[in-house]
Amino acid sequence: MSDATVLGEYFIIRALENGVQVIGMTRGSETKFHHTEKLDRGEVMIAQFTEHTSAMKIRGKAVLYTKHGIINTME
Ligand code: TRP
Repeated sequence: MSDATVLGEYFIIRALENGVQVIGMTRGSETKFHHTEKLDRGEVMIAQFTEHTSAMKIRGKAVLYTKHGIINTME
């Protein structure tokens, strides 16, 4: 794994309800779900984009803290 990957930006997902899903999608020519993480209300996940993960889909009510700003998902 490259230094750039390991040292890459983190962002935070804070769940506002039970059962928020963080879905990791693959990098490369095929775009597939590779991992689903479930967060309950109050749980926080801190994550990076990696050589395996190029996109993430967040399902449910959550707040995302990113370098692009603070993003609230809607119900
Ligand atoms: N093994 C995954 C990876 O290195 C772990 C991971 C990183 C992940 N960021 C994620 C899983 C975001 C789900 C969502 O890519």
